Amino acid sequence: MLKKTPIAAGITALATIFIAGGCAVADADKTDKVDYTAMTPHELAEYLVFEANGGGFNLSQEVQEGGTALERMQQNELQEACSLIDDADPDPETAAAIRAAAAESIVYPEGGIQLGDWERGRELTWSGFGYRIGHKVDDHTKEEAGGTCSNCHQLATDRTGGNLGPSLTGYGKTRGTSDAMLKYAYDMIYNPHVYFPCTHMPRFGANGMLTQEKIADIMAYMFDPESPVNE
Ligand code: HEC
Repeated sequence: MLKKTPIAAGITALATIFIAGGCAVADADKTDKVDYTAMTPHELAEYLVFEANGGGFNLSQEVQEGGTALERMQQNELQEACSLIDDADPDPETAAAIRAAAAESIVYPEGGIQLGDWERGRELTWSGFGYRIGHKVDDHTKEEAGGTCSNCHQLATDRTGGNLGPSLTGYGKTRGTSDAMLKYAYDMIYNPHVYFPCTHMPRFGANGMLTQEKIADIMAYMFDPESPVNE
């Protein structure tokens, strides 16, 4: 029924279509008579990417980091390895290779890992702006890209976060701010595959979504005693 392609099999494909193509389902409804309820999530994603609306998502459209949507969807080795095992835990050898590749991708700030401005960090953890394509392409000259952390994590209790990832409420208060702890958090944000091979958490530093400065601000929100996360 559906075209099977290596790209579409990837978690990246799913993530990209759900993050980037928020309106795809609604549009497909208007023009296509297909039974979405009979599809697995993978089939639905493939359908939306490749077939809906006579040809699928506009993969030739330009993306903010340069290149096209199709190019963004080309998986790197780490993503390919994780897609191949389809949500299972990687075997020890693959896990070690993924950790090593992730470790190599991490670039540390010149003056060491410092905490930035928690108030800015608060906005960044909440914001889902940035890198979205589809019907309304995010204009990075108007607003800066955020971190989408709250989509998956509960942080301060004044806002409701997601639960795909563990709660980070009270993070600094319970974990402390030792150098090792700050490095762990920085690594987790930059490329979490170094600790959790094939995690669903994005590689915010390695994929260029967050700068070192933004990571410092987000870390301040997580660790600063003044931050509402640590109330
Ligand atoms: C798509 C969901 C998702 C997003 C978005 C996300 N995370 Fe995560 N995060 C996870 C998951 C899942 C884990 C647990 C690791 C695992 O089991 O794969 C995790 C783990 C963590 C941990 C380690 C928690 C611990 O117990 O020490 C930290 C720190 C963290 N995330 C911070 C962040 C920050 C900061 C952001 C935003 C820049 C963020 N995450 C965005 C899914 C996400």
